[in-house]
Amino acid sequence: MIVTTKELFQQAYGKYAIGAYNINNLEQTMGLFKGNVDSKAPFIVQLSKGARSYTHKRMLETMMQTADEIFPEAVFAVHLDHGDEAACMDCIDSGVYSSVMIDASQEELEKNIEITKRVVDAAHAKGVVVEAELGLLKGVEEDIESAEHVFTRPSEAEYFVKKTGIDSLACAIGTSHGAFKFAGDQKLRFDILEDIQKLLPGFPLVMHGSSSVPPEEVARINAAGGTINGASGVDASQFLGAAKLGVTKINIDTDGRLVWCRVHREFFRDHPEQFDLRGPGKIFIPEYAKFIAAKNVLLGSAGHLDEVRAALKK
Ligand code: G3H
Ligand code: 13P
Ligand code: ZN
Repeated sequence: MIVTTKELFQQAYGKYAIGAYNINNLEQTMGLFKGNVDSKAPFIVQLSKGARSYTHKRMLETMMQTADEIFPEAVFAVHLDHGDEAACMDCIDSGVYSSVMIDASQEELEKNIEITKRVVDAAHAKGVVVEAELGLLKGVEEDIESAEHVFTRPSEAEYFVKKTGIDSLACAIGTSHGAFKFAGDQKLRFDILEDIQKLLPGFPLVMHGSSSVPPEEVARINAAGGTINGASGVDASQFLGAAKLGVTKINIDTDGRLVWCRVHREFFRDHPEQFDLRGPGKIFIPEYAKFIAAKNVLLGSAGHLDEVRAALKK
């Protein structure tokens, strides 16, 4: 059942965070739905601009609709991750996406507001909800690059939310995308979340760049021929603390890519004579499902499916 992120956030606010998982292909789709149903968690499927152009955007949309039929128990939102205005408009018109992210965070404040507001007006007219971003995560976000963190300013956040009418706000608090998040100790600015929550009580916040990059996963990849050095991620024990401060959506992409990489490297290391894609695919789907289920326990979303379904009266 496809629902909006707003409906999921109303259930989760202050208690737990909903996992927002990026996927690109069929094997990830099957593992993702299985893992969420197994752990009885509502969830968000995130499709990035890169994912939409990897095969074909319509292929992904059709996979979401088919997964909905195959997994009738699943309660999920279909969300565009880091969209520009054109991608948002396309997704709003698709009839499949229930949520879009307009990421104009590289623009100065008033321009960000202007673009975001246009997307909000178009989205809300069709029952689609909108996430936007203020501040910049260090590193690369789709095609935008920032050399340093530009933390979200709480007073600007309040102004931005009121001016644009968005449904959730992605905040920059020190995380970054990818597998190389922290050179030294992890420093997350929870004080920023706290200040935003005081100014915008009950308003859903989003944490991007939240993969944990487990050292044991990286070690297995490297033992099977990888050369991923100096990787580090977000300590998952921080998730519930963030949820209490209003974070209702936690974005995870990199960790899923690491599972894919580990499964495929180990498979072909151990079976060098094989070349059938279904060999590693059959291992990957349940491994990815296991990973999703474990992540949902850390996010606190595991076990909430029946209650969310009942609350949404669906
Ligand atoms: O924010 C970036 C997400 O991890 C999506 O990555 O643009 O390579 O699909 P991607
Ligand atoms: P990670 O790279 O930490 O998985 O973050 C993903 C993300 O924020 C997608 O929008
Ligand atoms: Zn992101």
